[in-house]
Amino acid sequence: MKVGVVGAGLVGATAAYALTLRGSCSEIVLTDKDSARAEAEAQDIAHASPVSHGGRVYSGGYDALAGSAVVIVAAGANQKPGESRLDLLAKNAAIFREVIAQVTAHAPQAALVVATNPVDVLTDLTTRLAPEQPVLGSGTVLDSARFRHLIAQRAGVDATHVHGYVLGEHGDSEVLAWSTATVAGLPVTDFMAARGRPWDEAVRAEIETGTRDAARSIIGGKRATYYGIGAALARITERILGDRRAVLTVSAPTPEFGVSLSLPRIVARTGVVETVMPRLTPAEREALAASAEVLRQAARTL
Ligand code: LAC
Repeated sequence: MKVGVVGAGLVGATAAYALTLRGSCSEIVLTDKDSARAEAEAQDIAHASPVSHGGRVYSGGYDALAGSAVVIVAAGANQKPGESRLDLLAKNAAIFREVIAQVTAHAPQAALVVATNPVDVLTDLTTRLAPEQPVLGSGTVLDSARFRHLIAQRAGVDATHVHGYVLGEHGDSEVLAWSTATVAGLPVTDFMAARGRPWDEAVRAEIETGTRDAARSIIGGKRATYYGIGAALARITERILGDRRAVLTVSAPTPEFGVSLSLPRIVARTGVVETVMPRLTPAEREALAASAEVLRQAARTL
């Protein structure tokens, strides 16, 4: 199966690298307005292929996207220190209007995975620009991973056995749905109590801050994030290609809220096939509604 990556910057290139190391697909093409950058990234990643799972990695123009089963759209500017994801909207929406037209022309069958921020509003825009194709955004898949990682550290359990969802905006108004957090199938509070592990408001506040401020902190230290989001994009892409009906908090249009945002969704070959609304506490439901309002306001500026 072939995957296209539009935008060979740090996020797009790292997603392509993650796909290569994980053997997610047999062919990857990178395209970027800076063709020299796309070619250099493709060559560098292609050298990992023989010592990974094999597969072709190359660069090309938009026409090279033809036949892609999935196209990851990572084109545009990323957050600079002090910038919010929503600050990028006007600039990246203009880029998307040009890019998505090319993607739909050359890869009309592909499922589109939006990575560029603000990912929720750009998922909305892409859905309108590519009405005939499956569209979803990476949303809070990365935030949910961060949430799980921080809980796992305190639980002393591998993060793959910790579950929990971050909902709403991939951004400052996101909602850490504590009521969905489990470790080894137990509600996190029960698990911690049963094992006598420290678990109080202060610990939860640390996890809240560590999840919400992860990007800000990493950008402050190395100017960009790309490994976490690159792996999240690879996971989403694999679940589409494999028609796996995996549950992921991807961003997609949500009629109940009138905007694209992240909820647990069943993801398969045709993109989002079903949304699984968790049983939330009244406070979580209120915070989700507030997050949706932040996104509706931003979407109205388009
Ligand atoms: C982050 C970027 C992908 O949260 O928004 O790291």
